[in-house]
Amino acid sequence: MTSNPIYVAIDTPDLGAATGLAATLADTAGGLKLGLEFFSANGARGVQQVAKAGGGLPVFLDLKFHDIPNTVAGAVRAACAARPAMLTVHAAGGRAMMEAACKAAADGAREHGVDRPLIVAVTVLTSLDQGDLGDIGVTRALDEQVRELAVLAKECHLDGVVCSPLEAAALRAACGPRFKLVVPGIRPEWAGGDDQKRTLTPAEALGAGADILVIGRPITAAADPAAACRRILAELPREGATC
Ligand code: C5P
Repeated sequence: MTSNPIYVAIDTPDLGAATGLAATLADTAGGLKLGLEFFSANGARGVQQVAKAGGGLPVFLDLKFHDIPNTVAGAVRAACAARPAMLTVHAAGGRAMMEAACKAAADGAREHGVDRPLIVAVTVLTSLDQGDLGDIGVTRALDEQVRELAVLAKECHLDGVVCSPLEAAALRAACGPRFKLVVPGIRPEWAGGDDQKRTLTPAEALGAGADILVIGRPITAAADPAAACRRILAELPREGATC
């Protein structure tokens, strides 16, 4: 991981567009996030091509694994071939699944001769509200569900969680200083909100305890993505602004 906290979300199935953006951002981003949309179209080889185009920037591979422990372990081991710096699993997959994912990350890294990827958990998707939780039989308050799943992830030795910027301060308090908080839903004051409803600015999110800022469209949809990324970096408190 670099000390630059900005991970740019490249949400496209188009390999050429993704490698082009990665090359443009190689000197200004701290890392790149690729998700299911890109991976479904381009697989592990595409991930490696984007990382190469980005000059070796760390890649957060956000595939949100959620299956039986044996299958998730196999998926994590196989994903290590793409050399990700960080992978996601759903905390709702439970204790055994998360423990299997952690062990598989160490095994997979050894098998492929790469660094162990961080394993971070998704708690409650930010697209779900209290009513949606009720539909699937979860009666706890949403913020309590998020906190309890984060604490469970920590007990299972995961490296951190993905969370909304508005959850960051509570999770920092609940999970301690070393647990990584990976935070999307970030909007600089000068950018539109797009479909994100509950946002903080990059500086506010860092102040709330975020370690990694996942930022997509304010950078990728800008006329000059590298300039947008530099502008955000310049707005961060000094310790977060070193490349
Ligand atoms: O373009 P934007 O900055 O909204 O992109 C945010 C990225 O973070 C997207 O890849 C989106 O899928 C992801 N994400 C999110 N909210 C979550 C989890 C992931 O926006 N709760």
